[in-house]
Amino acid sequence: MSELAAVSEVTTIPRRSTPERMQPEKAGRILIIDDEAEIRESLETLLQLEGYTVVVAGTGRDGLTHIGERSFDVVLLDLALPDKNGMEVLSEIRLLHPQQAVIMITAYGTVENAVRAMQFGATNFIQKPWDNEKLLADVRAAVARQKAEEENIQLKRALKQRYNFENIVGKSEPMLKIFDLVAQVAPSRSTVLLQGESGTGKELIAKAIHLNSTRRDRPFVPVNSGSTPPDLLESTLFGHVKGAFTSAVTSKKGLFEVADRGTLFLDEIGTMGMDTQSKILRVLQDRKFMHLGGVQEIQVDVRIIAATNVDLRQMVREGKFREDLFYRLNVISLDLPPLRQRREDIPLLVQHFLLKYSEENERPKRRITTEALRPLVSYSWPGNVRELENTIERAVVLSSGTDIGPDLLPDHIVGRGSAVPALDANAGATLFSIMEDCERRIIIDMLEKCGWNQTEAAERFHVPLSTLNQKIKRLAIEIKKKNRE
Ligand SMILES: Nc1ncnc2c1ncn2[C@@H]1O[C@H](COP(=O)(O)OP(=O)(O)OP(=O)(O)O)[C@@H](O)[C@H]1O
Ligand SMILES: [Mg+2]
Repeated sequence: MSELAAVSEVTTIPRRSTPERMQPEKAGRILIIDDEAEIRESLETLLQLEGYTVVVAGTGRDGLTHIGERSFDVVLLDLALPDKNGMEVLSEIRLLHPQQAVIMITAYGTVENAVRAMQFGATNFIQKPWDNEKLLADVRAAVARQKAEEENIQLKRALKQRYNFENIVGKSEPMLKIFDLVAQVAPSRSTVLLQGESGTGKELIAKAIHLNSTRRDRPFVPVNSGSTPPDLLESTLFGHVKGAFTSAVTSKKGLFEVADRGTLFLDEIGTMGMDTQSKILRVLQDRKFMHLGGVQEIQVDVRIIAATNVDLRQMVREGKFREDLFYRLNVISLDLPPLRQRREDIPLLVQHFLLKYSEENERPKRRITTEALRPLVSYSWPGNVRELENTIERAVVLSSGTDIGPDLLPDHIVGRGSAVPALDANAGATLFSIMEDCERRIIIDMLEKCGWNQTEAAERFHVPLSTLNQKIKRLAIEIKKKNRE
């Protein structure tokens, strides 16, 4: 299922198909990308006779445009294309649609390439001249697999719609798992610990848990331990009696009481002082607490959801976080994956934010061009969804036409001017040293995009980690520690 198709499902009511129209759709939709008209035609005829809906493209660029506009069950892709190498087209398809089934078609003598294509994620490859029966069997198998995967996603999406997950966008496997878990844990009273880098959506998920629980009509009360001064945090949470401390001229309720029968969201719990941690532990154990300076115990029924972007286990090992509290909070833990580990969500999120900010700014809905979407999908997003949201908001505000192209995206995302060295500043440089300089910049650029994760960079360069490490050594690249937190 293509992202664009998925988006239209989110934003429009699906059109009902007539029984006549459903027939070929049932067999599957195939895109053929091949520069030879004869081959296109014979494949088209063969597949149409089997009931498939077929779209043809003579160039890689045309093929990618079709893929951007609609979803296909299988793409048949020629390895040798006039405008783009089939392998390049394959990696662009992979970038935008990691699940897309792609069968490579190759002439004799290029089997090595075909094997490489399989390593790049092609589903299968077929040699020219092909055997019709074998080709049809391969297509049938790929369509069946694609449909099964789609069905799985549909089921999960239906589940998502049954719950109140408004404004939460995601179709990647890890996010669908999170939706499942949210649906499962929401109705209970269990404490939930949300872990994830900054901007991954922890607060959004905390609210979704609250809204899908029986507490939805009671308050959802967020408290940020990081931004509240430590001495104020306790009186904010537990309240105080008049005269408890010098400035306590009147008594005040704490947020635990405000959140009674609702949910208290303890954000950035890792920044909470040890004393406050003990008091929180007590409320979790006994459901009772006292106002600061008070003597009376107050009973509350509060569900706690805690969030952190630091590794609490590590803090426990370092003696900076109470182990007993950690286990109390960690009854159910949800790890929100960074955006760079679920790139299939990016086009969907882009559409979501385009709509949101076009509406907010009272402008007609902006459209993202394929050229602009590509860098958005491959950028590493150290600030995760929040950074993507800000990028789209900025682009919508700056745009004057309906299209948003790469010119409206920040330089570091589009990669403008990052890799190519300024040649005139290189007087006396040899071709070899210029090339080394280039290589160094390209590698540093990619490492930065991957948050200095060498394994991820090697994967994205499609080279073994050992090769990347050799280059890093030879080019004397200094490895920075993960610096995104
Ligand atoms: N899956 C998503 N769908 C739509 N919007 C999202 C999604 N995830 C995050 N956002 C948006 O991104 C922004 C950041 O999300 P949120 O504040 O929940 O992140 P966070 O993990 O709490 O970050 P921090 O650790 O910095 O507090 C919010 O505006 C939120 O609405
Ligand atoms: Mg937050």
